[in-house]
Amino acid sequence: MPEPFSIPGTTAVVTGAAGGIGLALARRLLREGAARVVVTDRDADRIAAAAEALGERAHAMAFDVADENAVADAVARIERDHGPIDLWCSNAGVAAGRGLGDDADWDLSWRVHVMAHVYVARALFPRMARRGSGHLLVTASAAGLLTQLDSAPYSATKHGAVALAEWLAIRHADEGISVSCLCPQGVNTAMTAGDGGASATRLGGDYIEPDDVAESVVAALHTGRFLVLPHPEAAGFEQRRAADRDRWLDGMRRAWAKIRAGAAGRAD
Ligand SMILES: NC(=O)c1ccc[n+]([C@@H]2O[C@H](COP(=O)([O-])OP(=O)(O)OC[C@H]3O[C@@H](n4cnc5c(N)ncnc54)[C@H](O)[C@@H]3O)[C@@H](O)[C@H]2O)c1
Repeated sequence: MPEPFSIPGTTAVVTGAAGGIGLALARRLLREGAARVVVTDRDADRIAAAAEALGERAHAMAFDVADENAVADAVARIERDHGPIDLWCSNAGVAAGRGLGDDADWDLSWRVHVMAHVYVARALFPRMARRGSGHLLVTASAAGLLTQLDSAPYSATKHGAVALAEWLAIRHADEGISVSCLCPQGVNTAMTAGDGGASATRLGGDYIEPDDVAESVVAALHTGRFLVLPHPEAAGFEQRRAADRDRWLDGMRRAWAKIRAGAAGRAD
């Protein structure tokens, strides 16, 4: 297992940090003694307000993680202005597309949930490799280990995020770069604010708070563990899926039938 990552004194970057899990992560990293945290988001106004609220060790930067030039430019500017990046939390995400979704939903989900991590690895890993150290945290989702019944683009691209994080963790370990993968189930954020009582994610278990997720991330960084599971029950679900795929699929079909029955009941 890779060495644990020690937070005090480090320079960290968090994408998608204007609210939700990203903001909670940034706040927690500062509390754990990070020297500075660059909080980034595509929403310039909200990220400026977030940095202001986080205090003087927080710095705001607005860019789109789905734009490779913007990511490369951000990496170069942050290292020029703040020094070597020790930890990059690749956390921005979107809820795009219900059901099978349309091509625009797939394109956006693919670029934000998969290519954004590729872009940062291309720009940052050669720098980390030269230094022989660095950590990438990929925010995927339990949807990337199991499924997310409401959205095929979300589910499939989060599976892609997990697969990519595993690949990076294997292939870059000998350069001193470690990778972890955050896979929460439901979390109370803007992304899930519209989830009704019978939404697929709510049926999967209790929603937790962004601060609980940040707590799990810090605990995992301290141990060097790859998979960060703020909902511990996700480990059991994943094991059941791997042990007997057909049985797991039957269970998911029953869950989907329950959701549909609930939706039909509400429409009556
Ligand atoms: N909330 C949940 O239940 C849950 C569960 C599992 C995983 N996640 C994942 O956690 C991450 C954070 O989500 P959240 O729940 O805090 O939602 P959120 O909507 O509060 O935060 C997502 C942030 O990402 C930013 N963003 C989106 N696209 C961007 C882009 N192209 N470039 C830069 N910034 C961009 C948004 O502006 C927003 O501030 C996402 O990757 C999400 O998929 C969330």
